[in-house]
Amino acid sequence: MTSVRDIPRPRVGDAPAAARSVHLSKVYGEGDTRVVALDAVDVEFPRGVFTAIMGPSGSGKSTLMHCMAGLDAVTDGQAYIGDTELSSLNDRQLTTLRRDEIGFVFQAYNLLPTLTALENITLPMDIAGRRPDQAWLTTVIDTVGLGQRLGHRPSELSGGQQQRVACARALASRPEIIFADEPTGNLDSRSGADVLSFLRRSVKEMGQTIVMVTHDPVAASYSDRVLFLADGRIVDSMTSPTRERVLERMKAFDGQPEA
Ligand SMILES: Nc1ncnc2c1ncn2[C@@H]1O[C@H](COP(=O)(O)OP(=O)(O)O)[C@@H](O)[C@H]1O
Ligand SMILES: [Mg+2]
Repeated sequence: MTSVRDIPRPRVGDAPAAARSVHLSKVYGEGDTRVVALDAVDVEFPRGVFTAIMGPSGSGKSTLMHCMAGLDAVTDGQAYIGDTELSSLNDRQLTTLRRDEIGFVFQAYNLLPTLTALENITLPMDIAGRRPDQAWLTTVIDTVGLGQRLGHRPSELSGGQQQRVACARALASRPEIIFADEPTGNLDSRSGADVLSFLRRSVKEMGQTIVMVTHDPVAASYSDRVLFLADGRIVDSMTSPTRERVLERMKAFDGQPEA
């Protein structure tokens, strides 16, 4: 089976970003229904960095993640995972890249109800016929902190525990990058904090690269830097964010944080 690792990757610099875009645009519809969801976005997601993306509803956050992850075709410009430009791949190569190099976490946990937590974590690799790296898997499972509950089914777990299983599943194949779209959107603040701590530890202790969309200043404060999107453009960024500073910045943009 061809792996994306077999595809030549021209090196651009000494430390290529885990993912980046070059003048990335995405337009939906035509004529009266034409929407520019992304407007020539240049962005880099450095390796081992936890980036949060914030912005009003409809500012293009989900579209950016979908285009970066090859789930949605770009209208103009390029999206790279490592040094692989996504539009250079055929469907089969893109599928392989998504499977091996990209992890996803969505607001809905998307776990299979008939499988245990552990089986859910290893499912993508089982489907792909890949042997998990046992040492890595052990680290992921230790970090997810489910202890005795690894044999439980999703219905026997709290929302926060289920989302941690979904995060562990995304981490298990040791992808180049994880995209998380409002992963704490359905959780109370306590469960959300558990999920965010787990994501934070995977960056700090395992060197994972994470891009997370959130509208919650507390969630954003777990990241290393925040990018602010408005009308399909990156309009600001903040390193070492705190809840207070993020909140201040959100107020500065047309008055209203996203409802
Ligand atoms: N599949 C689609 N078809 C048409 N328009 C879309 C589609 N997906 C998103 N859009 C539009 O693109 C813009 C950005 O959407 P989105 O990326 O979902 O924003 P966000 O995640 O920041 O709320 C919005 O105006 C939205 O209505
Ligand atoms: Mg969205």
